[in-house]
Amino acid sequence: MPLEFGTTVPFVTLNDGVQIPQVGLGVFQVAPEKTDETVLEALGAGYRHIDTAAGYQNEAGVGDALRTAQDSLGLTHEDVFVTTKLANGDRAKGRDGALAAFDDSMAKLQLERLDLWLIHWPGSDQANYVEVWKTFAELKDAGRIRSIGVSNFQKTHLRALFDETGVVPSVNQVELHPWMQQEDLRAFHAEHGIATEAWSPIGQGGDFLADEAIGKIAAAHGKEPAQVVLRWHLQLGNIVIPKSVTPARIRSNIDLFSFQLTDDDMAAIAGLERGERLGPDPDVFG
Ligand SMILES: NC(=O)c1ccc[n+]([C@@H]2O[C@H](COP(=O)([O-])OP(=O)(O)OC[C@H]3O[C@@H](n4cnc5c(N)ncnc54)[C@H](OP(=O)(O)O)[C@@H]3O)[C@@H](O)[C@H]2O)c1
Repeated sequence: MPLEFGTTVPFVTLNDGVQIPQVGLGVFQVAPEKTDETVLEALGAGYRHIDTAAGYQNEAGVGDALRTAQDSLGLTHEDVFVTTKLANGDRAKGRDGALAAFDDSMAKLQLERLDLWLIHWPGSDQANYVEVWKTFAELKDAGRIRSIGVSNFQKTHLRALFDETGVVPSVNQVELHPWMQQEDLRAFHAEHGIATEAWSPIGQGGDFLADEAIGKIAAAHGKEPAQVVLRWHLQLGNIVIPKSVTPARIRSNIDLFSFQLTDDDMAAIAGLERGERLGPDPDVFG
């Protein structure tokens, strides 16, 4: 079902009924000492969803920003959706590693309950992702996490979770942008009620955004290339988590609700598919 867009960020309802804002701020490669101010900038600009990971080494900065935002912006944790991810080294340690890592992330984030926890990568060796997935389900059942999901899972990994645990992830966060559109995986997600979350949604910036076709669409709408790509995601139903430490970009990356791409625009962007990853291949990484 196409989402109805108003003037603010819509929510996507996950398969467990939890609602996630469709636009969030990603903080991969945000320096730990800059994370607090970057997240506060985003919260001030209207973001209500932050995506971090144990591996980004900046969960504490996210936690500090959330605490400061209570006084400076009047926001409580109830207002802000927080995602973090289980690192590969802890996943490889199985249940005990996952439980210890969860406590560590929660202490850094200064939270009692997490909104979304993801297995960061399925892993190629010593993967343990099925055992760890059972631990995720336990923590959700105990009320410590509202939603559980995975990241970088291919169909084979997802099928293993379904077959061996019967617990379907709420989210799969994968590399997804116009050069790597993941059409087959998105269809599989839709079939199984898994929300698709796009990482590197604007292709990590740079040359990617200089694409001529995207530039033409941007000019026609009086918008920036990044806004066109993010709007393309939203119209496909993807959750997006663009990263920026630049205040003007943080603001423009959520200013996506005053225009709409036409069917021709959507088709032109669909034509940019190259099957080209910017990040690692999940079958061999982690
Ligand atoms: N699950 C996973 O394995 C995984 C992997 C990678 C990423 N992620 C998540 O996805 C998030 C986003 O992915 P990403 O950080 O790889 O890439 P991205 O969001 O596609 O691109 C970020 C880059 O684009 C630049 N940028 C941001 N807004 C821009 C704009 N409006 N115009 C031009 N350039 C702009 C940023 O520069 P400045 O910051 O200098 O403004 C930064 O260099 C991450 O932060 C992380 O939360 C998850």
